[in-house]
Amino acid sequence: MTKKLKVGIIGLGGVANLKAKGWQISEHAELAAGCDTNPDRFDHWSSEYGIKNLTTDVNAIINDPDIDIVDICTPNNYHTQMTVAALDAGKNVMCEKPLAPTAEGIRKMIAARDRSGKMLMTAQHFRFSGTAKALKAEIDAGALGNIYHARAWWLRRSGAPIRPTFIYKEQAYAGVGLDLGVHVIDLALWLMGNPTPVGVSGVARTELAVQEGAFSKWGGDIPQGFDVDEFSTAFVRFDNGASLIIEVSWLLHHGSEKDDVQTWLYGTKGGCQWPSCVISESNNNLKQHYDRALKLTEDSLKPHHRECVEFARAVAEGAPSPVPAEQSLNVALILDALYKSQETGREVVIPSA
Ligand SMILES: NC(=O)c1ccc[n+]([C@@H]2O[C@H](COP(=O)([O-])OP(=O)(O)OC[C@H]3O[C@@H](n4cnc5c(N)ncnc54)[C@H](O)[C@@H]3O)[C@@H](O)[C@H]2O)c1
Repeated sequence: MTKKLKVGIIGLGGVANLKAKGWQISEHAELAAGCDTNPDRFDHWSSEYGIKNLTTDVNAIINDPDIDIVDICTPNNYHTQMTVAALDAGKNVMCEKPLAPTAEGIRKMIAARDRSGKMLMTAQHFRFSGTAKALKAEIDAGALGNIYHARAWWLRRSGAPIRPTFIYKEQAYAGVGLDLGVHVIDLALWLMGNPTPVGVSGVARTELAVQEGAFSKWGGDIPQGFDVDEFSTAFVRFDNGASLIIEVSWLLHHGSEKDDVQTWLYGTKGGCQWPSCVISESNNNLKQHYDRALKLTEDSLKPHHRECVEFARAVAEGAPSPVPAEQSLNVALILDALYKSQETGREVVIPSA
């Protein structure tokens, strides 16, 4: 057994806790160090995960010669700067979603990756769920034919995160479009075979969060100063003629207590829904349509753990990045255009690369 890759996590809050076990159980990696500007986090990381190397100095992690992988779990606005610095220091980087708040940021990260020859992956954990993998395999085998339309949404009622990481532009850059939007757009594009977006008509709004007494089911009152979008929607055109409609909300009078998260894809041979993994088809000779559910095998690992395991395996084996930055660039181009379309009130054309 070769030496395990040592992982340093920067940003020890919510998502870092979701992923820590993934690094611990990896055959190829081990959790070695953590960094947060808030040292109150350290007791928990020391007692829960046994980490002794804990620091408030980001550069101490990035320049530590013992660290092989840096996992960036800080607010969105730090992703580009930290990823570029870590790649330039010779580290492999997994960075939380959104890879960067803008396409320009992702292009800088891709340039740093190419300079360093190290691996860069976006932490899009939806792709690592058993349901998404099963559907992707079926689609890649041709079950839907030519996919010409998709719909994807993640709608929450009274479900705004209230941490500064998410609700202030200074840290988040933007709101639910970036937060939940990247998940549903990334999954839809991946299932569609990564078509290139060419135009977006979008809307981004803040309506309920700024009402007097506005609340979230996670922590009571929504803090003053909330300055990002709480609802976003877009119609996207692709170079192959396909279209995608997305809707995401933290706050919407949507009559469902649970998060409503769905992706629908429609092709020339069939359609499907995620996460149910039901394929809808028809037989023109028999004049009948029918549904069939994919047989799913249970994955013993949670998607947040599986993504760490797969990243470490890819680094150890010299395999391609499990979620390449180029695919996240297309997601970011859509989001850039969504916010620009909100400003201009017009469809935004995405120039070809
Ligand atoms: N993939 C997912 O399922 C998922 C879930 C939640 C959050 N996220 C993403 O993860 C990132 C962090 O979100 P979170 O929920 O963990 O937020 P959080 O607020 O819970 O934690 C962020 C942590 O980063 C620390 N931090 C802030 N600035 C820092 C700096 N300059 N250097 C070092 N540490 C710093 C904060 O003190 C805090 O402990 C965001 O980009 C978010 O979009 C992804």
